[in-house]
Amino acid sequence: MRGKTINKKILLGVCGGIAAYKAAELVRLLRKHGAEVRVVMTESAQHFVTPLTFQALSGQQVYTTLIENDQEQSMSHIHLARWADQLIIAPATANMIAKMAQGLADDLLSTLYLVAECPTFIAPAMNQAMWRKPVVQENIARLKLHGVEIIGPEAGQQACGEVGLGRLSEPDQICRRLLGNDAPKKLQNVQLLITAGPTREPIDPVRFITNRSSGKMGYALASAAAKAGAHVTLVSGPVNLTAPVGVSLVSVETAQQMYEAVMTYVDKADIYIGAAAVADYRPVTVNTHKLKKNDDNLTIPLQKNIDIITEISIRPDKPFVVGFAAETDNLESYARQKLIQKNLDMIAANWVGKPEGGFDCEKNALQVYWLEGQQHFKMTDKSELAEQFLDLIALRFRAER
Ligand code: C5P
Repeated sequence: MRGKTINKKILLGVCGGIAAYKAAELVRLLRKHGAEVRVVMTESAQHFVTPLTFQALSGQQVYTTLIENDQEQSMSHIHLARWADQLIIAPATANMIAKMAQGLADDLLSTLYLVAECPTFIAPAMNQAMWRKPVVQENIARLKLHGVEIIGPEAGQQACGEVGLGRLSEPDQICRRLLGNDAPKKLQNVQLLITAGPTREPIDPVRFITNRSSGKMGYALASAAAKAGAHVTLVSGPVNLTAPVGVSLVSVETAQQMYEAVMTYVDKADIYIGAAAVADYRPVTVNTHKLKKNDDNLTIPLQKNIDIITEISIRPDKPFVVGFAAETDNLESYARQKLIQKNLDMIAANWVGKPEGGFDCEKNALQVYWLEGQQHFKMTDKSELAEQFLDLIALRFRAER
């Protein structure tokens, strides 16, 4: 990056870690490139670097507490959050990451995160064992799902003498990510329609048929697509997840409702991803009264649901169609059969019913097939996997158009 390019307002949160001194260099670089920077420090950050350092470098008052003594002089936390075009927390400690993942607001910086509506980035820095701890990784995965962009950390020698992943990314790299964000993205202005989660097929007012899908993979893909610049419509069955930032959510319950919602939006879709585990059958009749427990055996007649993805892929003006295949055996042959039978452009197959991966868990692995090729994505958390898979979707989509 050369010269003054940007006129962005950047709110920098500094947490208490040995890498806090690198945040000073980040302020200098951001200002050099024409950004306006305001700094918020946690209490422990002030043990590593003084507010005076950041005040001198940013040319602005440094914010340290939720309730400032001098109300006249200070911006309220709401104004500060609204002022910012971007929020970056560097270094982000495991403690701050946990607070953000849980929605805690017990100091100025964590409160600002909750108030902020602008793109948010974190650059974690911590001991390598701390970074690898499953709870830290779960919190990171959760923040990614909420639309937070993670920068680093990098591998190498740590301040504590250990070697591994956990070093704060270099200020220059963080600066590039923040200011380079205006570059055209992989799916800039692409219309992407995606289904996720299970469907519920009612038997009577209190009972239904469903499956183990949690919706995590579909939501992670929707989030990755929005970050890649796509306009995302997410048609979701009942799940326990919040819609990713920047995604339009359409909530449905049954396969029939999912079909109708998809048909409403498919006309303008460039890419369709069928990540939902749509129930294949529904009860022929939905009883208006709760079924009574009379006989030892109960038979519920079922009828086939419409195959949504096939309805889309037979359209003459069909979008680029990506399907999923969850299989308990013969993964490749079943997936390739589905690719052909359903006239898909790509299919992502994964094992279900195994101890790791598949439905209702944090991690997954995918075997992706298209007519002339395949690619394997190894077991990793679903938000990471979604980003890797989305890169491939963008690549194949561009190749076919
Ligand atoms: O045939 P099977 O259900 O295994 O195919 C899975 C793929 O088909 C997934 O992409 C799923 O979203 C889609 N599907 C659908 N409508 C159905 C059943 C499956 O769109 N009724």
